[in-house]
Amino acid sequence: MTQELWTAVDRYIDAHLLSEDVALDAALAASDAAGLPSISITPNQGKLLELLVRIHGARSILEMGTLGAYSTIWLARALPAGGELITLEANPRYAEVAVANIASAGLAEIVQLRQGAALDTLPELHAEGAGPFDLIFIDADKQNYPGYLEWSLRLSRPGTLIIGDNVVRGGAILDPNSSDGIVQGGRRFYEMLAAEPRVSATAIQTVGAKGHDGFALALVSGRPST
Ligand code: SAH
Ligand code: DHB
Ligand code: MG
Repeated sequence: MTQELWTAVDRYIDAHLLSEDVALDAALAASDAAGLPSISITPNQGKLLELLVRIHGARSILEMGTLGAYSTIWLARALPAGGELITLEANPRYAEVAVANIASAGLAEIVQLRQGAALDTLPELHAEGAGPFDLIFIDADKQNYPGYLEWSLRLSRPGTLIIGDNVVRGGAILDPNSSDGIVQGGRRFYEMLAAEPRVSATAIQTVGAKGHDGFALALVSGRPST
């Protein structure tokens, strides 16, 4: 009942506030057809990301965890002319689907996908002098969120907004004794945010079509060390 209600309210929000969108629908359809898991952000969450990019005036975005590029398309479209997005995806099959979806959405010039484990590609980006990024969306494997936060800080400047998806996981985050690497990684992520003097952070719980979860928002306020 509860999940049905959350899903129905998501549908109500979408029907009222979101427009039909051929490119986003096509990206989801192609991802489904290719057998990718249905774990993208929801449409109204995509709209939230779009608004955050615009509110922040972000011109450069780094994303970890592309899947079929559904969130990527929302983020990239919110960029102004000349904006850039780099997205990191480990799974070569997902990356192939994502690259096709990005091209179909007309975003090939704006979005660069790097295929490989993000803990390998992040140091490469750093060594190449990429960044600092204006906005960073962390949404790859949850057990590595602590490492992703460290790299995000290295690729940040004062004013960078770091957004982390899936930081509640139906409340699983509450269990200090969990043997699940996803929960441990999530809890460590909170501890690091709390201990990090260079960020000001909160998390917001969400319910909706994807259940009970949440986003962390962290604003970088000090100069990260290298
Ligand atoms: N951001 C997407 C959903 C991402 S799902 C959206 O909302 O549309 C998480 C993704 O992280 C999956 O595609 C998975 O393959 C990828 N992933 C898992 N481990 C990874 C790693 N070590 N490095 C980069 N990507 C990884
Ligand atoms: C799941 C959800 C996500 O948003 C994600 O990034 C990865 C996995 C899930 O529900 O399994
Ligand atoms: Mg996610």
